[in-house]
Amino acid sequence: MTADTLTVANVRVPGRDGAWDLFVADGKVRELAPHVPNAARPEGRVIDGAGLLLMPALTDAHTHMREPGQEWKEDIASGLAAAAAGGFSNILCMANTDPVNDNGAITRFMLRRARDAWPSGPRLFPIGALTVGLRGRELAPMAELAAAGCVAFSNDGEPVADTEIFRRAMEYAADIAPVIDHCEDPFMAKGSGANEGAMSARLGLRGQPDAAEAIQVARDILLAEYLNVPIHLAHVSCRRSVELIAAAKKRGAPVTAETCPHYLLMTDAALLGYDTMAKVNPPLRSDDDRLALIEALREGVIDILATDHAPHAAHEKETPFEDAKNGISGLDTALAALWELVRQGRLAATDIVTRFAWRPAEIFKLPVNRFAPGDPADFLLFDPDDSWVVTPESLRSKGKNTPLLGQPLTGRVVLTAVDGVVVHDLKAPGA
Ligand code: DOR
Repeated sequence: MTADTLTVANVRVPGRDGAWDLFVADGKVRELAPHVPNAARPEGRVIDGAGLLLMPALTDAHTHMREPGQEWKEDIASGLAAAAAGGFSNILCMANTDPVNDNGAITRFMLRRARDAWPSGPRLFPIGALTVGLRGRELAPMAELAAAGCVAFSNDGEPVADTEIFRRAMEYAADIAPVIDHCEDPFMAKGSGANEGAMSARLGLRGQPDAAEAIQVARDILLAEYLNVPIHLAHVSCRRSVELIAAAKKRGAPVTAETCPHYLLMTDAALLGYDTMAKVNPPLRSDDDRLALIEALREGVIDILATDHAPHAAHEKETPFEDAKNGISGLDTALAALWELVRQGRLAATDIVTRFAWRPAEIFKLPVNRFAPGDPADFLLFDPDDSWVVTPESLRSKGKNTPLLGQPLTGRVVLTAVDGVVVHDLKAPGA
C-alpha cells in the first residue's frame, strides 16, 4: 500500500463546529479546512465523511502482544490487526513475552515481525524490561534496549518489590527513556483478581485491597520526587491512587498516569457469577473508584487512556475463577466502549482525543497528528451511530476474552489511516 492523495469530505471534528474537509498528500496532513460543498477536489480517493467523526488515530501505551512465546494468545500480526480495527496508529508493547524483551535481539525480532506483517503500520514501539527476566533483581541493559528501538522500560506484570533496585533502575533509565510503573505491593496483592470488599466477601474470593496499589503509588511518587526522575504510573484503578497523584501533581512531582477503559466502565459487580472474563489485574473496583477515575481523567490528574490489552486463549479463561488468567482483550473495542461515556455526557469526545491520542504521544515522544499541515496523516473515522454486537468474530485480536462479548455497543471505528495509508476499512470487501 502506498500513501495516496486522499480527501475526507464533509466530516465532523470533535471540538470544532461545522463540517470539515481533510486533505492528505504524501502521508501528511495538507490541510483541515471548512467543508465546501461540491468543491473541486485534488485527484485521488475521496472518502465521504457525512455522519462520521474524524479524530487523530490513537496511541496505546499499554498493549501485551504475546510474541515471542505465547502466540496462541496473540501474535504481532493479529495484535496489529486489532490495533488497526480499533483506530490505533501507535502501539507500545509490554516486555512480558517469553523470552522476556530484556535484550536487543528480542526487540529487533519484534520490530521485524511488525514490519513484515504491517509494513504501513500501525507502528509498534516495544517497551523493554526494567530488570533482567522481569525478576526484579538485576537491571536490564537499558541502553542496548533503547538502541534496538525500545521507547520505555517497565516491569509490568511483575512489580519491583525491592525499593533499592527500583530506585537504581529509575536513576539508570533517567537519561534513556521513561519508566512505566506497575504499581502493586506484590505481597499484599498475591493470588487475587477481585477487589477486596463486599463483592469479594460475597463470592468467597480472596480480595486484593486498593491499598496494595496505592502503597506502591505513594512509594514511587516519593522516589520520583526524591530523584527528580519522571515516572509513568500504569493502569491506575482506584480513588486512593488518584488522590495521591493529584496531591503529587500539585507539588509539581514529575508524575504521569494512565487508566483503562474497563476501570471507567465496569465495577466488581461484573464478577457476579464468577465471570473470568472480568478478571483483570489490577481488579475492577467499586463504583466510587470508577467515578473518581472518570473525574481524574477529565481534569488531567490521570493523563492518558491505555488499553492494557491482555489477550488470553479460551482454555485460559474457561477455568475456575481462581485459576483463570488476568486480563481483558481491549484493542478492538476500546473506543467504541468508551463512547458510552460520551453518550452519557460523562466524557467529551475531545477528552478522548486529548487522553488517547495527543497526550500519550507527547509523553512517549511519538508521531502525533494535531491536524496541522505537515503532521503525519494518522487518523480514524468513527461512526457514532453504528450499533453492533461484540462477538468473537467481530474481534481481530486472537484474544476473545472480554466481558463485552454479546453486548451491544453504539459507535464504531470504520476506517484507520497511518501515514495516509488506509490500514483498516470496515466497508472494504472482505473486511
Ligand atoms: O490483567 C493483566 N494482564 N494485568 C497485568 O498486569 C498483566 C496482564 C497480562 O500480561 O496478561
